[in-house]
Amino acid sequence: LKRAFQIAIDGVASTGKSQTARLLVQRLDGFAHIDSGAMYRAITLKTFPLKPAVSSTAWAEQVAAIAENTQFHFAGSRLFMDGEDVSTDIRSLEVTRAVSAVAAVPAVRSALVRMQRDFASAPGRGSRGVVMEGRDIGSTVLPDAQLKIYLDGQVLVRAERRFAEMHAAAKKAGLPLNVTLEEIMADVQRRDTADFERKTSPLKKADRAVVIDTSFLSLAEQVGMLEVLARERLMHWEK
Ligand code: CDP
Ligand code: CDP
Repeated sequence: LKRAFQIAIDGVASTGKSQTARLLVQRLDGFAHIDSGAMYRAITLKTFPLKPAVSSTAWAEQVAAIAENTQFHFAGSRLFMDGEDVSTDIRSLEVTRAVSAVAAVPAVRSALVRMQRDFASAPGRGSRGVVMEGRDIGSTVLPDAQLKIYLDGQVLVRAERRFAEMHAAAKKAGLPLNVTLEEIMADVQRRDTADFERKTSPLKKADRAVVIDTSFLSLAEQVGMLEVLARERLMHWEK
């Protein structure tokens, strides 16, 4: 039996990893989409009721216990945690601001990496493969992936994308947007630094990764580029 075909997409925040993966699985037959960042976000959401811990070690232990006792399930691009759809709640600004600290806890990473590898080895009945996106997919989670992509982009462009997204969401909800572009840019930069400097599997370009600068690409253009690369590799692999 042939193993599932693995596509790993990594890169800094707001380079379009989630949207690109979502659209790519729509174009390729029989692929599942795994958003690993959504899993770190969901664990972060689950830590909010925790009482302030006496020490950072005690806090890390509590967070690790949460990660080890959580069930995840992806349905299309929606994420269910312990049976509940958390896809919307995990996108809040509070979660975005707290997630880097949670993602830096080694025991949280090992628990989630184990689950991510399980998803990739059994992406669902009849599935050809998986598109998994995050920060350490090509380097740590799926080092043998048949196609590895590293998405990059200028920080101002990425902050503008995030700002536009939040602006649209606030408008739709009829709520004021009480955050500025400068604040979003600072958040993006802070998260980039945390991702690059983390001790356990920091963000880096994996060996054999195809690097794409998304600063001047539309979403459709970058999906098209990935589709071409994926079809070419799939053709050789399925021969
Ligand atoms: O969409 P955005 O780029 O804002 O972030 P995300 O992909 O939803 O990931 C949220 C956070 O989880 C990131 O800031 C990373 O710190 C962390 N993460 C990680 O450490 N490893 C991954 N494989 C994916 C995400
Ligand atoms: O997952 P990641 O944080 O890398 O990015 P995303 O959540 O998929 O995309 C962030 C935002 O940037 C979304 O609103 C995308 O539609 C937008 N985007 C864009 O406008 N142009 C691109 N070339 C890539 C993403």
